Amino acid sequence: MENKIALLKAKIEESVAKAGDSETIEGLRVAFLGKKGEITELLRDLKSVSGEQKKEMGMKINLLKQNAEEKIKARIEEIKNAELQKKIDEAPAYDVTLPCDFKGEGSYHPITLVEREVEDIFRSMGFTVEDYPEVTDDYNCFEALNIPKHHPARDMQDTYYLDNGQLLKTHTSAAQNSIMRKYGAPLRAIFPSRCFRNEATDACHENTFFQMEGMMIDTDISISNLIYFMKTMLSEVFKQDVSVRLRPGFFPFVEPGFELDISCLICGGKGCPSCKNSGWLELCPCGMIHPNVLKAGGIDTDKYTGFAFGLGLTRLAMMRYGIKDIRDLNSGNLKVLSQFVNE
Ligand code: DAH
Repeated sequence: MENKIALLKAKIEESVAKAGDSETIEGLRVAFLGKKGEITELLRDLKSVSGEQKKEMGMKINLLKQNAEEKIKARIEEIKNAELQKKIDEAPAYDVTLPCDFKGEGSYHPITLVEREVEDIFRSMGFTVEDYPEVTDDYNCFEALNIPKHHPARDMQDTYYLDNGQLLKTHTSAAQNSIMRKYGAPLRAIFPSRCFRNEATDACHENTFFQMEGMMIDTDISISNLIYFMKTMLSEVFKQDVSVRLRPGFFPFVEPGFELDISCLICGGKGCPSCKNSGWLELCPCGMIHPNVLKAGGIDTDKYTGFAFGLGLTRLAMMRYGIKDIRDLNSGNLKVLSQFVNE
């Protein structure tokens, strides 16, 4: 029996030291100390040992048991710490659980950081940056954009209505009409702003989010101009040369209308879970401004054409900083929001 005890001791020490994850160590705990475990079996075997020897072996087995319990407990602790460290190492660059080291000087919201960056890029390309109220009316939000009453496109943009008939704008396109009226053609403008929709919220949807609308109206403006400006801007934002592609998309205020995709920045276009294996990420609906919209804005459609786009600023900020849950952005939680800096 003495031999058995010594062999088991060596076996326990070796296998516990080798165990590398929680599952293995738990398996070893059961195999040695469980009801049918090897140490329990040894205690049972004691019955067949006689007299003085029984007492001595009993003490040795108990010592072995105590030793095994301590070794396993210590190893469980080590494994837990290693697993936690691994999680921390693999976590994204921001961590919602970090303590807030707010020092009183404040920090910019990630959407503000991205918004300012995109504004600077467009300013350098001759665009003005415009402001537009969050409360508007049915005409600006829909009618002037070629979305008459009862048009099915309104279904996707339910919003919050005020008692006086005004509404919270559902998209930055609502500013198009007043900007055309303010400047006439030619015109290059962007207008970032908060938008609202009656949405059920989840990790990807919020009732409050940010867009940045852009318009360029001039003689001879074509889809090539649209592609050039979007590609230049996105390459600057992501600090690498991004490829773009256009797919047909329907929006009543553009004709033709597109969905602009960029090559997936995570896999470089090869296909990965982030781009659902397509190699492309949908980023920005856009198109050539519909003549009805230009006319409503007082623009001479015989002379001028233009493009418009509606960049999802919230989505862009999420992509830029790897933020997985849109609700973090409106949470007002400084632990999360004070971690972003504009590199
Ligand atoms: N306003 C649209 C929306 O929020 C997005 C959009 C699509 C804007 C096409 C545009 C455009 O300027 O050309 O769903």
